Amino acid sequence: MAALATTIRVAVIGAGAMGSGIAHVAARAGHVVYLYDMNADAVARGKAGIEKDLRFLVGKGKLAEADCMDTLERVRATSRIEDLADAGLLVEAIVENLEIKQQLFAQLEAMTAPEAILATNTSSLSITAMASTLKRPQRLAGLHFFNPAPRMALVEIVSGLATDPAVATTLYDTAKAWGKVPVRASSTPGFIVNRVARPYYAEALRILAERAATPATLDAILRESCNFPMGPFELMDLIGHDVNYAVTRSVFEAYFGDKRFTPSLIQQELVLAGRLGRKSGQGFYDYREGADRPQPVVEAACEGADEAVACGELGIAVPLLARLEQAGVKLKRTEGPGELRIGNARLALSDGRTATRRAAEEGTPNLVLFDLARDYASTPRLALSRADQCGDGAWNTVVGTLQRAGLAISRLDDVAGLLALRTVCMLANEAADGVAQGIASAHDIDTAMRYGTNYPEGPLAWADRLGPGFVVRVLGHLREHYGEERYRVSPLLQRHAQAGKPLF
Ligand code: NAI
Repeated sequence: MAALATTIRVAVIGAGAMGSGIAHVAARAGHVVYLYDMNADAVARGKAGIEKDLRFLVGKGKLAEADCMDTLERVRATSRIEDLADAGLLVEAIVENLEIKQQLFAQLEAMTAPEAILATNTSSLSITAMASTLKRPQRLAGLHFFNPAPRMALVEIVSGLATDPAVATTLYDTAKAWGKVPVRASSTPGFIVNRVARPYYAEALRILAERAATPATLDAILRESCNFPMGPFELMDLIGHDVNYAVTRSVFEAYFGDKRFTPSLIQQELVLAGRLGRKSGQGFYDYREGADRPQPVVEAACEGADEAVACGELGIAVPLLARLEQAGVKLKRTEGPGELRIGNARLALSDGRTATRRAAEEGTPNLVLFDLARDYASTPRLALSRADQCGDGAWNTVVGTLQRAGLAISRLDDVAGLLALRTVCMLANEAADGVAQGIASAHDIDTAMRYGTNYPEGPLAWADRLGPGFVVRVLGHLREHYGEERYRVSPLLQRHAQAGKPLF
């Protein structure tokens, strides 16, 4: 199977944000593209938007003037649907409504060649349902681009029950030929990205609901300690709470109320208040003229210790030791459970238990836990929590010692699993369920999360670095802590942990 030849004409139906972006991509790849919308103004706006984007590229020296002119010449704007009749690939990007899309596809099927491929850019509707009213449902598949389509590399190729595998393969190869990174998914709620990404928002919202830290602090932790391009609150403000909340609700409802996907009351309140994020001027942050941007909360400077004891293997946190030594902290090494002793405090990586529970279970009151960082050698920030039994002196010594190593310390109230660790484990859990349920391969899920949401690492590869056994332990502790179905461990993750086999 091969990509569609560039001599094949592509039709894009719906000239809004997505349709015009998709037309741009197909025209740049060399196809003549019909850009159609039922609204003539939208067609004109769509074409003007493409021209503006192309001109921007010319201005940046990334596109030659002649290529810009050729690409624009290939985009044929029209508000007459009959003009699409000789297209070999028709990509729908109209309003997100099943009946309206079904009506459109019936009309397109009747006027195009039997071998023409029908594709939909839907982000939430069932491909199976959309194809069910067609005479040739095997010709329809999802071709799900991300916004903005010319810049986002990922395309999810989504097969419904009836989709001909050859159609999916042609779309896969075509997306690749268009310079995109395609992945294959089966038609399930949220496909890959909109499902697997849910915990990125949900865990932060939950921790905010527990009032463990401010949005600015939580955003900074995920951005700076884990290299996510945006923190969850600033990202929800950018996406728009109406949109993000609607996606969460639709995935939750489509999975018959699975508690994993329970929407957040805090986000619902924002939607009800019309605080939709950047577009309305207010969300978690205030974007109105003159408003202050709150800064992440950090601990004030404390006096640290000159020496510390590394007890046992620190696993992924090993680079922290070299960092402390470089900062002049003398380190002794002894046997132990994998933690640091600083003054009369113990400092350990969270394992999903609260510090208070762990201090009680282990009989040492002065317990401080640290959060996951993607690279402890370079992270500028580290989140900590302390047991309720921990004394101020012990806490201050731990904070001061870590500050000596150049770390900004952000304290979270004693929530189970802190923020970054819990978020990454829940992302991996969701990704593992996606593999187990045949939504996509491990490779495609990790690729989708890297290219569709710009995560610094695929959740399954990340879980492998942490060790599937450790991830299972963290999730098990979260489940015990909350007593909720939401934290149930993916059977596939358990299996890999038991077999000692990587997920990716
Ligand atoms: P939009 O509202 O910007 O554009 C939709 C366009 O479709 C409008 O110009 C409208 O006039 C036209 N339209 C509506 N009904 C039509 C019909 N029956 N025939 C012809 N034209 C019609 O919407 P947007 O954001 O471009 O979304 C389009 C599709 O892409 C939706 O299915 C959406 O779920 C999906 N999508 C949106 C993403 C986003 O971030 N906006 C990301 C990925 C998918």
